[in-house]
Amino acid sequence: MNSRLGLFDSGVGGLTVLQRVVQRHGDFPCLYLGDTARVPYGSRSESEIRFIAREISEWLLDQSISAILIACNTTNSLALDIIQTSIELPVYDLISGAAEMIEGTRIGVLATEATVNSHSYKKRIETAKPGTFVLEQSCPAFVPMIETGQLTYSVLNQIASKYLAPLIDAGVDEIVLGCSHYPLIQDLLIELLPENVRLVDPSVGLAMNLDDFLGEPSSQKSLTQISNTRFCVTSDPIGFSAQLSNWLGINPEVELISLPSKACVF
Ligand code: DGL
Repeated sequence: MNSRLGLFDSGVGGLTVLQRVVQRHGDFPCLYLGDTARVPYGSRSESEIRFIAREISEWLLDQSISAILIACNTTNSLALDIIQTSIELPVYDLISGAAEMIEGTRIGVLATEATVNSHSYKKRIETAKPGTFVLEQSCPAFVPMIETGQLTYSVLNQIASKYLAPLIDAGVDEIVLGCSHYPLIQDLLIELLPENVRLVDPSVGLAMNLDDFLGEPSSQKSLTQISNTRFCVTSDPIGFSAQLSNWLGINPEVELISLPSKACVF
């Protein structure tokens, strides 16, 4: 099997998922689509997110991928069914893997507004582990700050402290990073959290679930060592390249692609 795994997100966030996949499965051929023309997804309506999910799934299918990895929690929360029915290929998602990774009893979830409003994490965790306390917190400022790369440590610190306060007050023992952008700022989150609070990155579970498809982990790599991934965006390839270099220290070629809707929503 040589065809590519297809991953997508609104921007750079899904690269944290690619990173986990590469760390476990090596330089497997992948196709990464960052829908930079429509980032952020988290403040969009359910119908917009479902439209986007269908369009991107169909585009990925046209690229002859072998499986789809939903590297975006927002589309995972609101359009998993669309993705599963748009393509007759294996679909690997973040949320189902995360529920299996929960070890604590008082769980915080940091996510986009759309993900929090869907309560997808809360429902999934409570179903998998009945009796677990789950408190969700939306973080609308994080993705725009990460995508522009204009992060002032003190401002980010202030905003993150505000988002974390209700979870700390509630005495959570684990926090799920329910948006694939957030692992990029996890060092700051760790600094602000009590030592006993563990962070859960759902992409670890996704990469493990991929063993079913790719086999046992073999040749682990870091993102800086890969050469088999095709990177595509729906706008501003130069800006995206700068972000890849800034956040992940990689400088691959980035292609501008065109979707049927020209990356508009209806
Ligand atoms: N990184 C995505 C997620 O996991 C999308 C964030 C956004 O565009 O708002 O939810």
